[in-house]
Amino acid sequence: MRSRSSDAIREFLQDSFARAGGSMPFHDYMALALYSPEHGYYSSQIADVGGNRADFSTWATLGDLGRTVASWVKAEIAHHDWTSETVHLIEIGAGDGSLAYQLLKSLGWRQRRRVHYHIVDISPPLRSLQQQRLKRYSVSWHASVQQAIAAARGRAILFSNELVDAFPAQWLCWDGAGWQEVQVNYDPSSGLRETFRPSEVTIDWQPQKTGQRIERHPSYRDWLSEWLPALKAGSLLTIDYGGRDWPSIYTPKPAGTMRGYHQQRRIEGGAIYQRFGQQDLTADVNFGEIQKWGEAQGLQTIELNDLARFFEAYDAPVERVEAAEAFLVLHQRL
Ligand SMILES: C[S@@+](CC[C@H](N)C(=O)[O-])C[C@H]1O[C@@H](n2cnc3c(N)ncnc32)[C@H](O)[C@@H]1O
Repeated sequence: MRSRSSDAIREFLQDSFARAGGSMPFHDYMALALYSPEHGYYSSQIADVGGNRADFSTWATLGDLGRTVASWVKAEIAHHDWTSETVHLIEIGAGDGSLAYQLLKSLGWRQRRRVHYHIVDISPPLRSLQQQRLKRYSVSWHASVQQAIAAARGRAILFSNELVDAFPAQWLCWDGAGWQEVQVNYDPSSGLRETFRPSEVTIDWQPQKTGQRIERHPSYRDWLSEWLPALKAGSLLTIDYGGRDWPSIYTPKPAGTMRGYHQQRRIEGGAIYQRFGQQDLTADVNFGEIQKWGEAQGLQTIELNDLARFFEAYDAPVERVEAAEAFLVLHQRL
């Protein structure tokens, strides 16, 4: 992890906001804070996922999610009748490599010889961790899902854990009559500040409370449209925290779900604008919306279920049932 001076960050913010005309939508700010090549949290600052040096832990680092995903993978191989050919598995956003490690280990050597494991990850520091952790296995890394699908000749089983929540999110606020989009402004003397701009977006839910905030992930829809046309046949498993629709996610959370994680602490409210590039930023995923976007692009929904039910379906012990119920699993096929 590189350390940066606060002068370098100030200069970077000043240039970025000047190029954007002084203000940018929150999702562009989130993309800078997480993914700008020099200062982004995932691009250059993240030290680990799970463990002492990490800002947050995940189901993959805390439990044995990879073993359950391995059972799902076996069932999908049987479904596609790919039992007599090399099967391409593509993990997107592999963190510290825990899920890959557990999955490959639980396949056993016989089955391992018949799969080709691909990882697509945007983060150079995490790719290095994955390479260290997985050195005894044969794994290929790719810069994009398109490249991984090309290597798989269009037929693959794809999966991710806690990926979509890390996509830049659009942040909206209900003003009693319509939605306003959160914009971010930067001034070197006063720092980062929110403003609002009327949004054209149509949401099929009207909150009861003025000031209600919600997040959306159209960046996920756009990303899907970049690579899905290259997939000829396969399955997709998306595991993340969130809910099925607007009211169930947001009625209990009038301020929305946008938060940061720093040294295993949850950061909320105005503090999410502190420590630029040095803390994670994340928001709950509306699975109803991402499911619809997948269907509009040709994916068939097989199941949308709680993580606790997914564990049960694949005969895994359900540890921490309450936590598992805050997570959903979307199973799609092409
Ligand atoms: C919250 S971490 C989850 C890591 C891991 N799946 C786990 O469960 O421990 C998000 C992961 O997604 C990766 N990531 C974020 N955006 C990505 C993208 N567009 N393409 C590929 N990887 C991405 C990050 O680098 C990181 O590895």
